[in-house]
Amino acid sequence: MTDPRSAPLPAAHHAEPGPPALVVGLTGGIGSGKTTVADRFAALGVTLVDTDLIAHGLTGPGGAAMSAIASTFGDTVIAPDGRLDRGAMRTLAFSDPAARKRLEAILHPLIRQESERQLARADSPYAILVVPLLVEGGKPRDRVARVLVIDCLPETQIERVMHRNSLPREQVLAILAVQASREQRLAAADDVIDNDGPPDDLDRRVRVLHERYLALAR
Ligand SMILES: Nc1ncnc2c1ncn2[C@@H]1O[C@H](COP(=O)(O)OP(=O)(O)OP(=O)(O)O)[C@@H](O)[C@H]1O
Ligand SMILES: [Mg+2]
Repeated sequence: MTDPRSAPLPAAHHAEPGPPALVVGLTGGIGSGKTTVADRFAALGVTLVDTDLIAHGLTGPGGAAMSAIASTFGDTVIAPDGRLDRGAMRTLAFSDPAARKRLEAILHPLIRQESERQLARADSPYAILVVPLLVEGGKPRDRVARVLVIDCLPETQIERVMHRNSLPREQVLAILAVQASREQRLAAADDVIDNDGPPDDLDRRVRVLHERYLALAR
């Protein structure tokens, strides 16, 4: 028997860039492995649009959201180099819950607009839109045709994030507490990648989904 991993991979490339026939929303809790999995799709030639990266660009020095943020919250949330001071913003949002809503009201439309712009230039038949809080935002299918959840035990998430970010357990638990539960996320999923095992297992799982998505996009 030949090793299925050695068979040639179906290419994901289009000749002409344009809106993909299918947009798959990739989501999962903190540290579940979203970036790890997304990178494997990208390695197959699939266009990735990462809303976290977009949010960072919008709130970086000279970012498109910064003038609205400055006029809404004042200079106390702006770092000396002009980027959003995340620590100061977090403190503000903690003392004033409405501040978080106002920040989201500024950012979300801009994130959507930039996501659409990047998706419109996709050069693969389907694209992966990475949205960490896709389930938390409600109505995920208003944004994407299909939801792919990266799933693992909360204990696995806790250990990985403690290790990666050198955070104490309580801080990771506090982040998990404000995210959707594993059950809520799985209830919204069309497809699930179980990422409790070693990273080597991901290649086969990603490959199976890649072929399914190519078929759906056809
Ligand atoms: N299957 C795995 N086995 C071991 N470590 C893993 C596995 N998958 C991911 N990791 C590691 O766990 C950490 C979290 O993974 P990753 O950054 O991909 O998650 P994420 O969902 O993108 O996290 P975030 O929510 O912070 O963006 C990283 O340090 C990554 O290298
Ligand atoms: Mg990530």
